[in-house]
Amino acid sequence: MLAQVEAIEQALETLGYSAVRIPFARDLHGFAERFKEQMVDMVFNLCESVDEVPHLLWHAAAVFELLGVSFTGSPSASLMLTTDKLVSKRLLRGRQIRTPDYIVCNGSQEFSTTLLTFPVIVKPRFEDASIGIDQDSVFQDDQELREGLTSFLDRFGSLLIEEYIPGREFNITLLGYPAPNVLPISEIDFSDFPENLYPIVGYRAKWDKASFEYHHSPRRFPQDLARLLSNKMKRVALDCFRLFMVRDYGRVDLRVDDRGRIYVLEVNANPCLSPDAGFAASAQEAGLDYNEMIGMIVDFALQREESSTL
Ligand SMILES: Nc1ncnc2c1ncn2[C@@H]1O[C@H](COP(=O)(O)OP(=O)(O)O)[C@@H](O)[C@H]1O
Ligand SMILES: [Mg+2]
Repeated sequence: MLAQVEAIEQALETLGYSAVRIPFARDLHGFAERFKEQMVDMVFNLCESVDEVPHLLWHAAAVFELLGVSFTGSPSASLMLTTDKLVSKRLLRGRQIRTPDYIVCNGSQEFSTTLLTFPVIVKPRFEDASIGIDQDSVFQDDQELREGLTSFLDRFGSLLIEEYIPGREFNITLLGYPAPNVLPISEIDFSDFPENLYPIVGYRAKWDKASFEYHHSPRRFPQDLARLLSNKMKRVALDCFRLFMVRDYGRVDLRVDDRGRIYVLEVNANPCLSPDAGFAASAQEAGLDYNEMIGMIVDFALQREESSTL
C-alpha cells in the first residue's frame, strides 16, 4: 500500500536515514541494477505482492537473502509459509494449534463436506486483506455451497472451505527481536452488526468506506479481558510465531467461541504498518509512537547486520 510506504519513508527521514524506493518486480535484472546503483545498506521490506500477485511476495525477501543484505521483517521461508493458507493450516494442525476444520477445493476434484459442520466460509487459498471474503462467502448447507462455489473458483482457483466460527475476534500483535513481545490485544467490535449480517471482517469492512461494515467494525482494546483468556491467546500467538519463524513483527488473527476455545484464523508475517492500521494502533496503545515503532524495526535489522545472524 502506497500510504504505508509514504509514512515509513517519512518516519525514516525523521529518524535520520535517507531512504529510496525501489519497487520489486518480476524483472529481476532491472531490480538488481537499481539496487546496485543506489548502494543500499539495508532494506525496509514492504513487498506485499509482485506484479500484483500477492502470493509471490516472499520472493523479495529471498532475493535479499541471496544478496546478503540485511532487511526488516520475516525471512522468506516464513513469508512463504504464511501466505499459503493451506500450508499454514497443515502446519498449525501438525503442532496441535487449533484452527477451524477445513477442506480444500480446486474445482478439478470431487469433495465431500460430510466432515464439516455448517455454516462454512470460503476463502481463497492465496489471497490476503480479505480479498474474496464477504457476506456471500458464508454458506448454510452443502447445496447452497455447491451453487455458490463456481464464481469463487473462477476468480481464485484454489479455495479453502472452512467451518465458520461464531464468537469474538481478536488480533494479537507481536513486536521484538530476537524474542517478540505481545502488544495490547485488540478486538473487533461487531456489536452494531444486525442479525442478518455475519460478523466478519470481509473486504467491505476493511476497504469500502461507503459500506455499513466499514463503519461498524471498529477495533477496541478491551480492558476487562479475563486474565486466563488473554494469557492463553498470548501463548497461542507466540506458538504461531515460533512455528512460522516470524521475525521482528507480525499479527495473529484469532476467534474465540462461546466455550472459550481459541481458533487461529491466520498468521500474518507482514501485517500492514501504515499509521491507521491495527499494528500501529497496538503499538500506540503500548506507548510507542509511530516513529519509535519504525525505529525499533530498523534496529532489529541493524542488529542482525552487525551480528550476521538470521
Ligand atoms: N473460519 C472462520 N470463521 C469465522 N470468520 C472467519 C473465518 N475465517 C475468516 N473469517 C473472517 O474473515 C476475515 C478474513 O479472514 P482471514 O483468514 O484473516 O483472511 P485474510 O488473509 O484475507 O485477512 C477474518 O478477519 C474473519 O472476520
Ligand atoms: Mg486476516
